[in-house]
Amino acid sequence: MTEVDDSHEFGSEDVTETKLRLLEEYIQAFATALRGKFPRIWYIDAFAGTGSRTIRIGATDANMFGEAKEETVDRKRGSARIALDVQPHFDRLIFMEQRKKHYDALMELRQQHPQRDIFVLQGDANDIIQSQLHLADWRGTRAVIFLDPYGMNVDWKTLECIAATGAIDVWYLFSLSGLFRQAARNISGIDQHKRAAITRMLGTSEWESELYQREEVFTDLFGTESKHERQRIADVAGLERYVTRRLRTIFPMVLEPFALPPVRRPQIFSLYFALSNKDPKAIGLAKKIAGHILNSGKPSHSRSR
Ligand SMILES: C[S@@+](CC[C@H](N)C(=O)[O-])C[C@H]1O[C@@H](n2cnc3c(N)ncnc32)[C@H](O)[C@@H]1O
Repeated sequence: MTEVDDSHEFGSEDVTETKLRLLEEYIQAFATALRGKFPRIWYIDAFAGTGSRTIRIGATDANMFGEAKEETVDRKRGSARIALDVQPHFDRLIFMEQRKKHYDALMELRQQHPQRDIFVLQGDANDIIQSQLHLADWRGTRAVIFLDPYGMNVDWKTLECIAATGAIDVWYLFSLSGLFRQAARNISGIDQHKRAAITRMLGTSEWESELYQREEVFTDLFGTESKHERQRIADVAGLERYVTRRLRTIFPMVLEPFALPPVRRPQIFSLYFALSNKDPKAIGLAKKIAGHILNSGKPSHSRSR
């Protein structure tokens, strides 16, 4: 059998380590709390990667403190393997992946666990979720979905489909730096392509009036009319607040996002936890568990007491 290459380098170490730690803590608590209460508990990884992550530790020259070191390559678990290891086990794991090489690595992972119920789907996660999620019987099922794209790849319609199940808890790594880049300071800097990408991600074109100055016409002393260039009025924090407001229009509960990286600035991602279940008891439990995990994961100076 030819060996499948599951090497996959992504993200900076502090971002990747933190997001996967928070995810693991939650899915572990989720499986423990819901086991036996629902006939089926599932884990869905929409941007699953390979199941592994590769960390390169750079070579160092000799210095007065030590000898030269060669580059080393370390292999750690990615989100798919982390979910497989959760005890008690998820009844089903669904991995979606667009890239063939990554899909092959996930298929290999599946073969290594013949006793587990694992679905590996190749394709655009947006298409798969939008066309298939409603086919499941969500009445006896509770699930966690992890949305961990490289950039702005999650369509609003995909989030609406997830919210419509009323049964899925969501961890969504939102690319705040991606939005910041697309939402240029001057509105004239936003071409058709960028405009469409922002609208696809936020599910409305109203972001233009929410995030940018209104169009104003000025008349000078001689009666000549001129327009000022419309500029973005929202800074990074304002963009994040707007995203949170948007998510709260479709999910019954969205916690304040976790800033990543956790200590360094600028902020690159907002890690969101959202709940699609409207039941007050489910909201209370998820708020308690996810709220605690997010709060204790913060650097000590920014924790709420
Ligand atoms: C940041 S990596 C995911 C890492 C993974 N969560 C882990 O911890 O190992 C993003 C993955 O999404 C895949 N991807 C990108 N666009 C996609 C899409 N539209 N649908 C499904 N997968 C996609 C990429 O090939 C890549 O493997």
